Amino acid sequence: MCGIIGYTGPRKTAKILLEGLRRLEYRGYDSAGIAVGRENAEPRLEIIKSVGKIAELAKKMPEDIDGSWGIGHTRWATHGGVTEANAHPHTDMSGKIVVVHNGIIENHKTLRTMLGKKGVVFKSETDTEVIPHLIASYYEGDLLKAVLAALQHLEGTYGIACIHANEPGRIVGARNGSPLIVGVGNDEMFLASDITAMVAYTNRVIYLNDGEVVDITRDSYTITDRHSNMLDKQVDEITWELGAIEKSGFMHYMEKEIFEQPDSIARAMSGRIDEENATAKLGGLNLSRRQLADVHRVRIIAAGTSWHAGMTGSYLLEQAARIPAQAELASELRYRNPVVENDSLWFVVSQSGETADSLYAMREVQRKGATVLGICNVVGSTIARESDGGVYVHSGPEIAVASTKAFTSQLTAFYLFTLLMARMRDMSREEGQKFTRSLLAVPEMVRDALAQRDHIQAIAKKYCRAKDFLYLGRGILYPIALEGALKLKEISYIHAEGYSAGEMKHGPIALISPEVPSVFLVSDDYLHEKTISNIREIKARGGPIIAVGVEGDTEAMALADDFIAVPKADPRFYPFSMVVPLQLFAYFCALELGRDVDQPRNLAKSVTVE
Ligand code: F6R
Repeated sequence: MCGIIGYTGPRKTAKILLEGLRRLEYRGYDSAGIAVGRENAEPRLEIIKSVGKIAELAKKMPEDIDGSWGIGHTRWATHGGVTEANAHPHTDMSGKIVVVHNGIIENHKTLRTMLGKKGVVFKSETDTEVIPHLIASYYEGDLLKAVLAALQHLEGTYGIACIHANEPGRIVGARNGSPLIVGVGNDEMFLASDITAMVAYTNRVIYLNDGEVVDITRDSYTITDRHSNMLDKQVDEITWELGAIEKSGFMHYMEKEIFEQPDSIARAMSGRIDEENATAKLGGLNLSRRQLADVHRVRIIAAGTSWHAGMTGSYLLEQAARIPAQAELASELRYRNPVVENDSLWFVVSQSGETADSLYAMREVQRKGATVLGICNVVGSTIARESDGGVYVHSGPEIAVASTKAFTSQLTAFYLFTLLMARMRDMSREEGQKFTRSLLAVPEMVRDALAQRDHIQAIAKKYCRAKDFLYLGRGILYPIALEGALKLKEISYIHAEGYSAGEMKHGPIALISPEVPSVFLVSDDYLHEKTISNIREIKARGGPIIAVGVEGDTEAMALADDFIAVPKADPRFYPFSMVVPLQLFAYFCALELGRDVDQPRNLAKSVTVE
């Protein structure tokens, strides 16, 4: 949610921190701050904070600010309102110990009372502020020792970076439940919650695990557990290029990411299709053929858009591989004391690989003996590392808060897995070849859908002032309706509901009026006639209809006020081509309404708190 960056080295620290925060801004953007240390005869720290976006912080930055080490933070408020006092960094009473923190300190009230009794006066309402005061109470000239002692008192989740004015060039970090990554450079070191903050400078990284503490200077790092036992950690090379996190000529990251989909989908399936045998190769599953054959049920844990991908996957698995499958909301599942059956295989789907709800739900079912496979985008993320195997979707960095390309890549992973499982069961080689051909054709289908850009923009202009929308689909297009509604509400702030079209008559049809447009997804499969009847029911009550349907569907075209055509294909694959117009529709509505497309209000890219 929040973002952390730390730097120690010869470059202009304030500039590096500010640039890092700009790249992290997508994670949280209600306030920000930095602390920069100067190594003079009298070492001192300068702290600058601001409410609002990083641009506001940049405006407050003195011309001459510089130093050789420092930390920065971009905040998504949890405890305490959006004020400058609550923005990070936070300090102890002397102002010499400075901390930035992601996560939530659950016992902060107890610690506040305890510290208050010792005379500590708090300047903010945050849970974070207890940390620098606690460190100060143990400080005897060695920051690492004081941090280690303070950690013994902290309950909850944290990713922390901490500096002391009297220890130039040194940054101490600790992780428990919130990501923290060390960037190893030449004569310089980075510490960040997200690789994007440092990818411009180094591609050598060390992922910290929960319970680990790092002590860095510009030319060294040591990693220990919380009891000071030294750990030998591997340095990983990341393959991202800077271009992957730039807008590359597009107005917004979201637009860029929508248009990247033909390539990102192709990447997700690259090397994973065995055309000869008409099946899929998913080496990362870490399961033998025997173990896969013994799977009688699939259960999928996820949140938000990833949950919609999981739900689409569940429809497909049932239909094409004849395996009962169910997608579960992570936030619900965890507290339901879930039943874990021996013959079930579990998936957790997460773009970021850090979503707290999904991570904790995964740990809960693992505790009960489940084998959980991850479908993640971010390499080295917590879910990717803690799952028992899985599939990286290789979408590349997704920066826009609204997920688009990760969704279609997650779908691709489910289509590959379904092909694999179906071919081990009832699907013949001929059917497998047909499925494989359709899968390989998806990037082209998506390209055709993207070519409707101008038409969709015109429709968005026509409808974007509506206050409410309904998104309706049946069968495998029902989760796509949910996804379309989510996209619209999160970036345009227009109220939108996704429903199964068949469910309308059980209540929601009461909402229909000439002011409430319905977006219908119309397949040309066995549900076509049913969906057409649902359109007629809405039309009869005066509701405007936007239909996303198949080229040549004269019936849907005649009924709809506006029609967006996708190329004819195997109906099981319409989720790919039909979600794209919905993404574009949401994007253009938000654009027309002047919304902040990439960083919509109240949201954060990776939701690392419950
Ligand atoms: C919607 C969106 C969110 C995420 C959800 C899960 O556009 O981005 O609904 O899908 O927070 O995030 P991940 O996939 O990172 O677990």
